[in-house]
Amino acid sequence: MIQTDIADIDKAGERPDGEGGPKKVFVKTYGCQMNVYDSQRMSDALAADGYVPTQTLEEADLVLLNTCHIREKAAEKVYSELGRIRKLKDERARDGHETVIGVAGCVAQAEGEEIIARAPVVDIVIGPQTYHRLPEAVRKVRAGGKVVDTDYALEDKFERLPQLHKGEVKRRGVTAFLTVQEGCDKFCTFCVVPYTRGAEVSRPVSQIVAEAERLAEAGVREITLLGQNVNAWHGEGPDGRQWGLGELLFRLAGVPGIARLRYTTSHPRDMDDALIAAHRDLDALMPYLHLPVQTGSDNILKAMNRRHSAADYLRLVDKIRAARPDIALSGDFIVGFPGETAADFEATMKIVRDVTFVQAYSFKYSPRPGTPGADMGDQVAEAVKDERLQRLQALLTTQQRAFAGSLVGRGTDVLIEKPGRSPGQWAGRSPWLIPVILDEKPGEIGDIVDVRITRTGANSLFAVTA
Ligand code: 5AD
Ligand code: SF4
Repeated sequence: MIQTDIADIDKAGERPDGEGGPKKVFVKTYGCQMNVYDSQRMSDALAADGYVPTQTLEEADLVLLNTCHIREKAAEKVYSELGRIRKLKDERARDGHETVIGVAGCVAQAEGEEIIARAPVVDIVIGPQTYHRLPEAVRKVRAGGKVVDTDYALEDKFERLPQLHKGEVKRRGVTAFLTVQEGCDKFCTFCVVPYTRGAEVSRPVSQIVAEAERLAEAGVREITLLGQNVNAWHGEGPDGRQWGLGELLFRLAGVPGIARLRYTTSHPRDMDDALIAAHRDLDALMPYLHLPVQTGSDNILKAMNRRHSAADYLRLVDKIRAARPDIALSGDFIVGFPGETAADFEATMKIVRDVTFVQAYSFKYSPRPGTPGADMGDQVAEAVKDERLQRLQALLTTQQRAFAGSLVGRGTDVLIEKPGRSPGQWAGRSPWLIPVILDEKPGEIGDIVDVRITRTGANSLFAVTA
């Protein structure tokens, strides 16, 4: 636990060595969009103590690794990165600079004190539930100490997050993430999230609406609601009834200035009728849905504790498409879950053919210590996983290209985001998240303009104003 009797400590953001200038924080983010959002929030919290962000590790007074534990040897990667940072810290110390090193995110949550035991260079280990206490932790370290703070906070972590300042978002662009819930109660047997991020906690409606209004005031036009299991979000609405994500989206669509809404990541079990109705009735809700199915095999779905069958998923997709015929689906897939036979894998290939995904993330199963999957017999050989992943990815890539190709010649709307890479070019965002490149300035940043798609690029679409 960290102490709170720190009133006598210097303001953390002022250099103690008389060198002047603000202190600099370097944040390295691994993993999901939730981590990207959290990194931004950590920077915001530290800004109140005078820290400014830097992209240069060598000049950082505070280095934060915001880690991900979901796949692969995440902890090992963090330790090898820390080895590199230790050398840097030593070099800076020779020049008379102090460098504070923090490990945040899901590896921090999972490993706790073990991190400092194995890598004594680390000063702070802080879990995702307690980021609002980060500035306090930094002050404590600068007064001479180490901090391990991986409690599940009892206070409202959302309430304690720093508010955005007016104008601040202009600097960040016209799209933004907004966290509406964290944690997960689903306990899929492959997944560490319920252990690292804890139980599902939904943010109250009033806070979410207030943050959306601030984002809109600052120039944001498109908001992506974030949550590990975002469509499990629930809360009491101003009408006194329990709201689900569908009702929340209706409310947010009424925030002046907000033209586009999205949400990620969702679980098929939590796609209720109100949410599907939002896809039918809300123009602002983009026709793109990330709805992971993981596998097409009923046996494996059961072993994964997904609590639905392949047929349930197909029925759900039909229902969503009946509500919003032009919706584009994106998915997550795992190959080589324990016990996956050749026939199980073929069922995954089949569901991909039956559904058609415009975008997908596919992974080899990686046993996460502490999850039920890691202890299951019948682990699949690495070579088999490799082969299956290759076949699946080839199919998904074909579908992705076919979708992009089908857009050529069509009209669509694009949110103008920023100048493109080549001089004169402008870049925007299509309803399906695929970047759109325009050869001339089609309007101001933040405008939504009609364009016609002329051709596909590697990971983008080219278009002209319609
Ligand atoms: N092994 C492989 N993939 C995983 N995912 C989550 N845990 C694991 C794991 N242990 C994938 C799932 C999930 C996405 C975020 O990461 O497909 O939807
Ligand atoms: Fe993990 Fe998503 Fe399953 Fe929750 S629903 S346990 S976050 S895969």
